[in-house]
Amino acid sequence: MKSRALVVRRTHGETARLELMRLAALRMDLRILRDGEWIVLPVVEGAEIPAELGEPSEREFEPFAVPHAREYRDLVELPATERELLPRSFDSVGDVVLIRIPPELESRGPDIGEALLRFVPGARIVGADHGGHGTERRRRLTRLAGAGDFRTIHRENGIAFDIDLERAYFSPRLAREHARVAENVGVGEEVDDLCCGIGPFAVTIARDGRARRITAVDSNPAAIALLRSTLARCPYSDRVESIEADVAAFLSSARPVDRVILNLPHEGIKYLPSVGTIVRPGGAVHYYEVTAREGADVRAEDLVNRIGGRAHWSLIDQHVVHPYSPQDDLLAFQFVRADPAEDA
Ligand SMILES: C[S@@+](CC[C@H](N)C(=O)[O-])C[C@H]1O[C@@H](n2cnc3c(N)ncnc32)[C@H](O)[C@@H]1O
Repeated sequence: MKSRALVVRRTHGETARLELMRLAALRMDLRILRDGEWIVLPVVEGAEIPAELGEPSEREFEPFAVPHAREYRDLVELPATERELLPRSFDSVGDVVLIRIPPELESRGPDIGEALLRFVPGARIVGADHGGHGTERRRRLTRLAGAGDFRTIHRENGIAFDIDLERAYFSPRLAREHARVAENVGVGEEVDDLCCGIGPFAVTIARDGRARRITAVDSNPAAIALLRSTLARCPYSDRVESIEADVAAFLSSARPVDRVILNLPHEGIKYLPSVGTIVRPGGAVHYYEVTAREGADVRAEDLVNRIGGRAHWSLIDQHVVHPYSPQDDLLAFQFVRADPAEDA
């Protein structure tokens, strides 16, 4: 049967599958194709596909013998007025499914959980996500359906990560950002991943093999323990040094590097001036911030001043990673430090 299709590299197949599923854009009635180095995903007609995932084409697929529900919402029995409030999107992290339920539907949690458990292939437990808390951004979760805890192994960009969703921050919505930053790293670079969490930037950069050394820093001991347990399975683990430390203390004695990643979207601004001082001429900073959509245009100018001023720094990229709230976006900024030797 012919269908709209998205062709992605095998290493990015799982990331793209989860993203399409989250957006209710993956056809669940057709089998995914494997074609050598490529994975071909059947895509819902008319669904909006993020440009970064690629341009959909058309391919021939085999249908499943028994057609599956098109979206999880088809499996929840609710009066029409409540059905309208059901969120379309959810997150899959390994065999854990997370969903944010509006307060009006809280009593329907178990039914929503059971529907997701049936809908998402390989799901073991479904949790209600009540958001991140504290500086460690740990999620408050309650079990809606299924069994066990919120520890899992999640595949992202071809790497298996150890995750404990209650003890350390992780978001599957950053998968493309982790890959994008890693692609920017040049041969022989030294990189600091500040506020590294369970280490998806650091490990992806190490796997890609061009960086000479990556230092990953986080103050949450659970995050560093998970990073170390992921690295224990990786043949390239010797390129990553993981440090449990406060970012301010680390920066006070940090060595110069070629690239810094600072992903602490609500508070990172206070570390930006110090970050600017440890980057070598010609080096780069990837900085993340939750910013009001309305003020996003002028925000970059302010950030250039904070990091060290226009004479030394320029903004070379700014993009929306994902919407954060009705008014705010998570933004990615990439700054480059001027290199007087190149200007000469
Ligand atoms: C938004 S998460 C980023 C995780 C990771 N970079 C990723 O892409 O998945 C922010 C992380 O910063 C850490 N953190 C918060 N304040 C910190 C501080 N003062 N020093 C070091 N790490 C900190 C938290 O523990 C958390 O893991």
